[in-house]
Amino acid sequence: MLQFEIAKDTCTKCGLCATDCVANIIDLDSGYPHISAEKERSCLKCRHCLAICPTAALSILGNKPEQNLELKGNLPEPQQLETLIRGRRSIRHYKDENLEPEFMQRLLDVAWQAPTGVNARQVQFSVIDDKDALANFREETYAGLARLNEVGWMIDEWAMYATFVKSWQNKGTDVLFRGAPHLIVASAPRNGPTPLADCLIALSYFELFAQSLGVGTVWSGLAKDAIDEMVPELRNKLGIPEEHLVGQVMAFGMPAIQYQRTVENGAANIVRFKG
Ligand SMILES: Cc1cc2nc3c(=O)[nH]c(=O)nc-3n(C[C@H](O)[C@H](O)[C@H](O)COP(=O)(O)O)c2cc1C
Repeated sequence: MLQFEIAKDTCTKCGLCATDCVANIIDLDSGYPHISAEKERSCLKCRHCLAICPTAALSILGNKPEQNLELKGNLPEPQQLETLIRGRRSIRHYKDENLEPEFMQRLLDVAWQAPTGVNARQVQFSVIDDKDALANFREETYAGLARLNEVGWMIDEWAMYATFVKSWQNKGTDVLFRGAPHLIVASAPRNGPTPLADCLIALSYFELFAQSLGVGTVWSGLAKDAIDEMVPELRNKLGIPEEHLVGQVMAFGMPAIQYQRTVENGAANIVRFKG
């Protein structure tokens, strides 16, 4: 049941909702927009109809226009967004402190706005939001890797983790999580439409928004392999369902360092189709 509702006193019958509907299920034949019962199940639940309505006359799925943000006058300047993207850096030095819970929630809520294939929105964020909990998880990870080091690495490429274990044991250098206080793992059902892309996009949004708020982030492909393949009990500890593909892992927290400038990557690698 889509709860597709039109405020007849404000709807101008402009038809924009019908034109923009990706499933093409909004009809205007009775004057006001409506969705017939048999077409309802084709709805993607993207709510473009609500987003586009110029007079805020349309509600759907219990979502009313006033529950959402107005875009006019509230978007960032492109220059600011460009500087954010160019200035984003992997942070590998962190303060030993937790983010405020409300702050953490805000980051996760914004990342949840990321697009997903067919609007499936099945990404799960497994989060370690307490630095002591991550300290325990870190110990368990290195202990699991140390056990593998003793019995022998099953795959040749894993052998490089022996140096990470040694660095941790001998110097307290944490190559896997970079000493961050928090961790986020994005996973999604393997049999979903686009699980890997969905996870990577969500974490990319998470990273950019985090860095706009002064929160540092670093992707950790190394931690991903340790959690997902090498010490699989870590997956269970994080509550990652068996049927989920692990997209990526990101460590985050308040940075102990600050970058002063962007580092430009030079010309993009572009191939243009000539027709
Ligand atoms: C998928 C992915 C996996 C990564 N894995 C690691 C990692 O395991 N450890 C690490 O320190 N950095 C990791 N990075 C960060 C890259 O090394 C980093 O993005 C690159 O060196 C450029 O630096 P910048 O992010 O500061 O621009 C990863 C980045 C991506 C996108």
